[in-house]
Amino acid sequence: MKTYKIASIPADGIGPEVIAAGLQALEALARRDGGFQFDVTEFDWSSDRYKKTGALMPEDGPEQLKAYDAIFFGAVGAPDVPDHVTLWGLRLPICQGFDQYANVRPTKILPGIQSPLAGVGPGDLDWVIVRENSEGEYSGHGGRAHKGLPEEVGTEVAIFTRVGVTRIMRYAFRLAQSRPRKLLTVVTKSNAQRHGMVMWDEIAAEVSKEFPDVTWDKMLVDAMTVRMVKNPQGLDTIVATNLHADILSDLAGALAGSLGVAPTGNIDPERRFPSMFEPIHGSAFDITGKGIANPVATFWTAAQMLDHLGEPAAAERLMRAVEKVCADGVLTPDVGGSATTQQVTDAVIDAIRGEN
Ligand code: NAI
Ligand code: MG
Repeated sequence: MKTYKIASIPADGIGPEVIAAGLQALEALARRDGGFQFDVTEFDWSSDRYKKTGALMPEDGPEQLKAYDAIFFGAVGAPDVPDHVTLWGLRLPICQGFDQYANVRPTKILPGIQSPLAGVGPGDLDWVIVRENSEGEYSGHGGRAHKGLPEEVGTEVAIFTRVGVTRIMRYAFRLAQSRPRKLLTVVTKSNAQRHGMVMWDEIAAEVSKEFPDVTWDKMLVDAMTVRMVKNPQGLDTIVATNLHADILSDLAGALAGSLGVAPTGNIDPERRFPSMFEPIHGSAFDITGKGIANPVATFWTAAQMLDHLGEPAAAERLMRAVEKVCADGVLTPDVGGSATTQQVTDAVIDAIRGEN
């Protein structure tokens, strides 16, 4: 029997609610399969810890995580702690420290879930957004001078390296190649930003030669928002910078019905470090503690984690169960239903058990 060591970091807001749901589904899958099990360690790293000790995680936090096969992450952010403190205190040090340079964000309209786009249903929108996750606009390069004075300056420098762009481009082309349509859209803003973004375009053209069977095209990020809304059927795999893909994938989640169904994997494709799996959404203060957080994004990211661990059959089983439960109308309020987090979770577990 294989044992996967999972580090669970539920953190803030609805994070603990959806991670609890995700762990129940993973347990059910392990029991159903019989060939693997999970050894889960929970870490209390969070904004609460920050308020008590001054740090979201211990100094050797990343070091502790190295012993795990994967990280299962909830959400970080609290109303009374600045967002840049929470993000840079927990999530980004893990992503960057473990060189999880490929942020992979699948989006599709699940059966039973209504897209806000008129006439668009399951099958019309089936994308994977690949977000560069190690550099670009979120490299942390910049500073402030003359703080508080009228002549204050703030810089936020986007860093693009040939190594960084080439590896994400290769990852995206390979992913596009593995999907039935073999279609990749490369997003930049290389008209207005004429250095790093032009380099993206050039490297895309170079890497494309390694993948002659992949059809690819280029889009400017502003025009891309229009295309996503007007012609969702025309897109499949998408690659973009850290900032652009961050924004586009929130739009993608909304177009697929709710942020509550959108998952993401922060992947180290070279497997030197554990990869981290999380729902895209944040801590959702407005619904924390009400028991109505949508667990579907967390189930979906659990499926991504299973795939990464080498359990594709269990990943598929989980997604089939989620799709069945959505199609049956067992939905949380964000997607038009009245079910609780636990009711959706129980239905998914039933579907996992009932499958042959
Ligand atoms: P958010 O994603 O927490 O919430 C946006 C809206 O979507 C809210 O109305 C919320 O109720 C709804 N929503 C989100 N997830 C849902 C779910 N599973 N089920 C049902 N409804 C759901 O984004 P917001 O409000 O901008 O940020 C709140 C906090 O979360 C901030 O502190 C922010 O920094 C943090 N955040 C953390 C992220 C992370 O840990 N990766 C990502 C995004 C935000
Ligand atoms: Mg975001």
